[in-house]
Amino acid sequence: MQLIGPFTQILPLTGMPLKGALKDEQLQIITNGGLLVENGLIVAVGDFEQLRKEFHAADIKETEGDNVLLPGFVDCHTHICFAGSRAKDYAMRIQGKTYLEIAKAGGGIWDSVTQTRAADEETLTHLLLKRIERHLSEGVTTIEVKSGYGLSVEQELKQLRVIKAASNQTKASIVATCLAAHIVPKDFNGSQPEYLEYILNELLPVIKKEELAKRVDIFIEESAFNGDNATIYLNKAKQMGFDLTIHADQFTAGGSAVAVSAGAVSADHLEASGNNEIKLLANSNTVAVALPGASLGLGMQYAPARKLLDAGACLAIASDWNPGSAPMGDLLMQAAVISAAEKLNTAEVLAGLTHRAAKALNLTDRGMLAQGMRADVQVYPVNDYREILYQQGKLKPVIMH
Ligand code: NIG
Ligand code: FE
Repeated sequence: MQLIGPFTQILPLTGMPLKGALKDEQLQIITNGGLLVENGLIVAVGDFEQLRKEFHAADIKETEGDNVLLPGFVDCHTHICFAGSRAKDYAMRIQGKTYLEIAKAGGGIWDSVTQTRAADEETLTHLLLKRIERHLSEGVTTIEVKSGYGLSVEQELKQLRVIKAASNQTKASIVATCLAAHIVPKDFNGSQPEYLEYILNELLPVIKKEELAKRVDIFIEESAFNGDNATIYLNKAKQMGFDLTIHADQFTAGGSAVAVSAGAVSADHLEASGNNEIKLLANSNTVAVALPGASLGLGMQYAPARKLLDAGACLAIASDWNPGSAPMGDLLMQAAVISAAEKLNTAEVLAGLTHRAAKALNLTDRGMLAQGMRADVQVYPVNDYREILYQQGKLKPVIMH
């Protein structure tokens, strides 16, 4: 057993409702706190001196200087298993070129598919691990990673096997998601429903058998899959035992309604959600995931995060880190930026980066510091937790050895 501390402040993020708007007064703050850990799990959180007396047999790991302890962040939406770059797309985008013009010039998702298919497993694992380690060093201890740049049975399996291999080589906790339904690949000879049937019949059973992913994602959009085809796909995937998550309402509304009626764990993007979509999400168990990194990368509006919270939704914030729309991947910076734009308070942002994001992954063992929870933590070298968002991502956590 190990007692770590003292911490100037501990924010356990406990006792907060999972849905709806929050107030900063709901943030519990323990001053001069300690964290008692055994076998990677939290035994107790409380006053450092009191814990030291009560558990005198524990090893003490004494900290120095000012420090704020909080749960590690959960990034519930990334596409960081890719090879290559789309800097060319970005340069065209900031020249004012449209999505169609960029696709015609050989850019877009298909370009990343081509570059990722060309990489062997070893190279791809190395690239993925580098991104995972960067995230970990920035306080992100749980990372969802999607496939979706393979788009054939063989290439999707390659991506998912790479995600599994990387997860065995890192301290970060990795959650894999199959996004074979990203777009219909250019080299598939058939319709949308035919491609989805092919995934259902040829790919998902192998993923189940090899335990490569427990979650399935689909991009519902005019340029990808329509709601009706997606509904059939999702219901069948659900019957096979997969959790569902949806790329919804990014450019046009519609995906979130499909997500809610299919019982998806999350609907992500939502930049184009209107009042009807907000109401639907708020009255559901589906987590609304804002992806400010995609808004920044594309120069688009943010998801209506304030309205979603006020309507009663569970709002998480994720990075969407990917080579096309969200190449930056700095989750804390992005959360700080959307908090200023959308007027999200500190409690709402921290909940959205921790236990509310864990809910989007159907995980109940993390995202708050309480007895029995995973001891996934991060420490900032400041004396006031409010510095963390105030410094807009420039303040990074310190590594605890
Ligand atoms: O979440 N919207 C669809 N998929 C990604 C973009 C992927 C890409 O452009 O490579 C997203 O933004
Ligand atoms: Fe995405």
